[in-house]
Amino acid sequence: MSVTMAVSMRSLVRRVIPLSHRHINVSGRTSCRCLSDAAADRSTHFGFETVPEAEKAKRVYKVFENVAQKYDVMNDAMSLGIHRLWKDTLLHVMNPQSGAQLLDVAGGTGDISFRFLEYVRSQQERQKRRAVRTMQTPSWQEISNSYSTEDKDVPQESRAVVCDINKEMLRVGKQKYESAGVSAGLSWVVGDAEELPFDDDQFDIYTIAFGIRNVTHIDQALQEALRVLKPGGRFMCLEFSKVTNPVLARLYDAYSFQMIPVLGEVIAGDWKSYQYLVESIRKFPNQEEFKSMIEDAGFYCVQYYNFTGGVVAIHSGFKL
Ligand SMILES: C[S@@+](CC[C@H](N)C(=O)[O-])C[C@H]1O[C@@H](n2cnc3c(N)ncnc32)[C@H](O)[C@@H]1O
Repeated sequence: MSVTMAVSMRSLVRRVIPLSHRHINVSGRTSCRCLSDAAADRSTHFGFETVPEAEKAKRVYKVFENVAQKYDVMNDAMSLGIHRLWKDTLLHVMNPQSGAQLLDVAGGTGDISFRFLEYVRSQQERQKRRAVRTMQTPSWQEISNSYSTEDKDVPQESRAVVCDINKEMLRVGKQKYESAGVSAGLSWVVGDAEELPFDDDQFDIYTIAFGIRNVTHIDQALQEALRVLKPGGRFMCLEFSKVTNPVLARLYDAYSFQMIPVLGEVIAGDWKSYQYLVESIRKFPNQEEFKSMIEDAGFYCVQYYNFTGGVVAIHSGFKL
């Protein structure tokens, strides 16, 4: 079956069969089944534990509900602030242009969406300054106009939608940006990566940062990413990955398993949730395996970039 046919079959199935009754595998073949039979029978991993598929999402929900209040503080503590650099790097690789519409899935407290809007604004400011520098003998009025916030050259305002299954994570994020007075351009939507509450072909960029390893059916989340992106749109995933250097891998393992649950207990009073976070990283496919999954979903030009020796990787692909 050609890629286009497979994609249109999937679109048809999506419209006709309720999600709870369908299963779309990575090759595009589709089958219907009763969720109660299938999901109860199948098992998956929750960290190093094996659990029925139907239970994983509930357990993941509980983890993030528990950690939401301390999520940002813990991210800084666990990564010694390095998560900020990884997130900045995602924006540099993305290099979004003004007017771009972002969907940030598993967006949590909004770090990626906020950085996206900041990046676009700083690009606009730079362009305005460059335009001013190149103007020939401008009048003061022209200079003043060029700094005005109503820029007629900007075709459409960029917006970012933070979509997350967990209401508590969204609530903490929304409150953070609203109380700092920097929430313009951000929307907060409760939604499941496996069944996004958006129409087809809506977004220029889809991001999922440190989120996809928590999703039960990664292939289904990838199908949804493809569906909501506009043709030409870009999928970008920032996720913990496989450390390539054996010495670094040993140090990283020791740090993850011996320090992170302890930090979780001391800072957030929650050992178990942070134990799950560490285990879930080890269960996630390596760089090459995940690249193949993105290609199987129907994305093109799939590439990945390792950072900090493969502690994290950015995967990118396009919808054509
Ligand atoms: C580790 S946090 C990442 C948050 C944010 N992207 C960041 O980088 O800081 C993982 C997030 O994935 C969300 N999540 C887990 N399963 C999800 C699903 N099926 N659909 C949408 N979000 C999900 C959790 O609620 C949580 O907010």
